[in-house]
Amino acid sequence: MGLVGTGIPGRPFSALPVPIRRPLQTTHSLKKPIMTAPDELADFVRRLPKAELHLHIEGSLEPEMTFAKAAKHGIRLPYPSVDALRAAYDFRNLQSFLDLYYAGVEVLRDEEDFHDLTLAYLARAHADGVVHAEIFFDPQSHTARGIPFATLMTGLLSGIRAGRENFGISCFLILCFLRHLDADDAMRTLRAALPWKQHIIGVGLDSSELGHPPSNFADVFACARLEGFIPVAHAGEEGPPAYIHEALDILKAARIDHGVRAEEDPALCERLARERIPLTVCPLSNVKLAVFKQLAEHNLRRLLQAGLCITLNSDDPAYFGGYLGENYLATALALDLGEAELRLLARNSIEASFLPAGDKARWFQQLDRIHT
Ligand code: ADE
Ligand code: ZN
Repeated sequence: MGLVGTGIPGRPFSALPVPIRRPLQTTHSLKKPIMTAPDELADFVRRLPKAELHLHIEGSLEPEMTFAKAAKHGIRLPYPSVDALRAAYDFRNLQSFLDLYYAGVEVLRDEEDFHDLTLAYLARAHADGVVHAEIFFDPQSHTARGIPFATLMTGLLSGIRAGRENFGISCFLILCFLRHLDADDAMRTLRAALPWKQHIIGVGLDSSELGHPPSNFADVFACARLEGFIPVAHAGEEGPPAYIHEALDILKAARIDHGVRAEEDPALCERLARERIPLTVCPLSNVKLAVFKQLAEHNLRRLLQAGLCITLNSDDPAYFGGYLGENYLATALALDLGEAELRLLARNSIEASFLPAGDKARWFQQLDRIHT
């Protein structure tokens, strides 16, 4: 594969990870009653050092913040209350979610909004034991509304800086092109991003998958790779395995986001396992968007057992009912995952990250020191 590699060789990167400052708080206390099994599971999951590799920052916009930002900017929302907005999060498929998601971002207008959004996510992720996050952002959903690229970048970067200072969490940014828009729009977005490229580790492809194959974006991904961005792409969420092939062969994706429909193509699964191309899987998202009817039917465990590098992620946690910790817990309970599998998921998340090799080695050591 024509990977750019892990880290950005030869390119300075400003959002360098820093070691976590203090051990995570655990709920262990001699005065507490003996913990029930779910408490122990939650505590174990929280203590595992983990990376989150599939998180749309706009999808971490909680209804409370939507209302606060709407009030700040004098925007009237079509919902009477936070609860009414949350109650609308009942989706039939990816598109029915995206319609609400794009409406939601309208309340994000200035640097402070992007800062607050990012810092709120990093605080929540830290509480779940996330030590490193690689977060997607969708510039076209903001620039199309007249928000300057510089506004969102400045806000996101100051949020990341505050996350590092407050919680010791490291964070990389991945710019996503919206695949329901055309390739020229994506190319203009890439050009707008170039002055910021030392702050953006990769490019991705998201939004409505069906009818928008990765091959439509061959040229913009080729230019992005030449500029040193690491390519990733959503594929095989609702779309067929052929889209995963295109993402690998045409976009040269270093990771596939979702990718759960790979299972329909055994030769593809063998390739993903052999080449150790990670899938960033998001179980709660898949159930909310009807990719699987229920969590107990999810194929994550089978994909893991087939030797694929599977990571667990939250996608759009404000909309799908859970951040990373909840994804680990709910999936462990529904699929009966044991300690070894949870450890493997955490290990895969570090391995599949774009952290430099030395940082990965440190997190692997920390992981080995965690006991049940
Ligand atoms: N944008 C935000 N969440 C997404 C998802 N799950 N699939 C595609 N595009 C998205
Ligand atoms: Zn996604």
